[in-house]
Amino acid sequence: MEIDPNTLDARSRHLLLTALVVPRPIGWISTQDAAGRANLAPYSFFNLVASSPPTLVVSVGRRAGRPKDTLANVQATGELVVNVVSADLAEAMNASSVESGPEHDEFDFAGLEQAASTVVRAPRVAAARAHLEARLVDVVPVFDDDGMAHNHVVFARIVHVHVDDALFTPPHRVDVAALAPLARLAGLDYGRLGALFSLARPLPPPV
Ligand SMILES: Cc1cc2nc3c(=O)[nH]c(=O)nc-3n(C[C@H](O)[C@H](O)[C@H](O)COP(=O)(O)O)c2cc1C
Repeated sequence: MEIDPNTLDARSRHLLLTALVVPRPIGWISTQDAAGRANLAPYSFFNLVASSPPTLVVSVGRRAGRPKDTLANVQATGELVVNVVSADLAEAMNASSVESGPEHDEFDFAGLEQAASTVVRAPRVAAARAHLEARLVDVVPVFDDDGMAHNHVVFARIVHVHVDDALFTPPHRVDVAALAPLARLAGLDYGRLGALFSLARPLPPPV
């Protein structure tokens, strides 16, 4: 099948592309608004894009023509926390995706406890086994053919990391199998890690 994605309607294009760029990590992002109200939502247009400096990105769409709370809060406070979604937190993560305004606290809605962060004011998901505290670096609009930016990519620098002691061997080893990160697929589908294996990198060809 040969497909020009620009000829598809928006929903078909979304389902096709999100089925092919898989598995996607889920950035489960907690923020605070300027009044200190907590917010929590999952984002799978999310990734680590550099480790020096430690930098992550998340792409936030719009709701009813307005920025979602996560983007509004990051722009207002300059701070966010990425909570790693282990598979046993899938239901709570999904509950926190409820489309609601800033007056609703998705921690409450999803039945989740907050934990204080170390460097930023935004709270963490206490039940998550790892967290990345981050500060805003830049917001880049993604313009569509109508000249409107329906998505904004947030670049943020990671300023503090929490990892459950049980999963961590200093100086840098994380037990990823025990972390059991949930993967986002297309539509309503998710995946878990399968069998893990290692591969040595190839040697450069002789000169
Ligand atoms: C697993 C998952 C991944 C999602 N990824 C995105 C995403 O990358 N971008 C986006 O705009 N919305 C995404 N959503 C939808 C948001 O979570 C949803 O719109 C949420 O209500 C936004 O909350 P907020 O307004 O508090 O930021 C995703 C939802 C789920 C369940």
